[in-house]
Amino acid sequence: MTTTSTFGADRAAELLAHPDLVPPLAEAGADGGLAWLRANVARFASGERHARYRGQVGELLGRMEPGRLRVRAAELAREVVAGAPGEVDVMAAIAREVPVRVLGEAVGIGCAAGGERGPENASAVGTGIADGVEVAAVRAVAAGYLSGEATEERDAAVESLVAACGGEHDEATAAKIGLLVQACEATAALIGNALAAMLGDSAAVSSDRSGQGERAEGGEQVGQGGDGEEAGSPQGASQEDRSRPGGTGVGDTARSAPITVAAELRSNPPVRATVRLAARAIEVPADPGHSPVGGAALSTSGRPPVGSKHTGSAAEGVSLAPGDLVLISLSDGPHSLPFGAGPHACPGRDQAIAIAIGVCEALRHTRLLTAPIEYEPLPNLRIPTRLEVAP
Ligand code: HEM
Repeated sequence: MTTTSTFGADRAAELLAHPDLVPPLAEAGADGGLAWLRANVARFASGERHARYRGQVGELLGRMEPGRLRVRAAELAREVVAGAPGEVDVMAAIAREVPVRVLGEAVGIGCAAGGERGPENASAVGTGIADGVEVAAVRAVAAGYLSGEATEERDAAVESLVAACGGEHDEATAAKIGLLVQACEATAALIGNALAAMLGDSAAVSSDRSGQGERAEGGEQVGQGGDGEEAGSPQGASQEDRSRPGGTGVGDTARSAPITVAAELRSNPPVRATVRLAARAIEVPADPGHSPVGGAALSTSGRPPVGSKHTGSAAEGVSLAPGDLVLISLSDGPHSLPFGAGPHACPGRDQAIAIAIGVCEALRHTRLLTAPIEYEPLPNLRIPTRLEVAP
């Protein structure tokens, strides 16, 4: 029987860097569908294959300019609101739609034949939306991506995305599709949580503008350039942002988008936990400062692992046999690791933040209608079900 041990986020950095703890790996061999995709992306690979796949996705992301992604995301979000007759459900019409479309443009999906809109220029303002990206297909794949549970719909969705990439079942195609699938739900959750905080918290925020509010709680600054960049003036800030006194882009009633995104990442990380598997027998020593995780066991599929024994807290340290699972929280106040850690840490951090800020900026003067906000019943992802706003 597989044993499952649960660790708090205070042990996450150490465990995610452990060379003998690997993500549940995908089996090679399938020539199409969800199984093929999973076998050809970094998320479910280890060792040399992981390094190669990660290099491919890193190269795609490295060609993107976060400031442009931010501007394009804002532009598309504004288009959706302007084109709607009244209220807009952000989760249905924007939170997944915009990131997938912006990133689809950036990796050139939908223009494989002519190649006139490649990764170098695709995220520039003024280019059209990549015709080939079906957001519904990306969502369908995302629903089975972690669990590996294939259905006809999910396999067909992978194939439609392969076709949009030019029809080749090769590693380059898998890297593009994997990038969109990884981004879809997590970025939607970040957008949903940040927007809910920004629009729902306007009164508290007006009093937060007297200096300290220019920096996210805890001192971390968020911008596309990473550490050390001013939260209020990240690269890619719109002209409107820069021309405001203080240059922060802070709206009249709402906290600024960069500050809100930074604060939400820390206090309300979208990805709550992840899973690793022991590749060989390992002793995980006790940590005197360890805080055990309460609640039910989590799993990659969002359900308790089948046929497993949950050992509860690992405060006293555990002996893992090959194949044993480790459930690692990423969301625990000061210990939170919203983008993970170690060799599989999210390579899309800067791009995701840029897109989330762009969407939040575009919607910062809308009114939030949904209250109370309900969340999808997913233990691994904190994502609002609906978020209706009015212009
Ligand atoms: C532009 C949007 C995004 C892209 C392109 C992206 C891409 C990826 C990729 C390719 C991986 C797998 C890396 C590997 O296994 O080596 C990954 C992992 C991860 N991503 Fe992202 N991601 C995005 C947004 C987000 C967001 C918004 C969050 C949450 C705040 C997030 C959290 C994570 C975490 C926690 C992992 C590590 C999972 C683990 O170690 O088990 N990602 N991401």
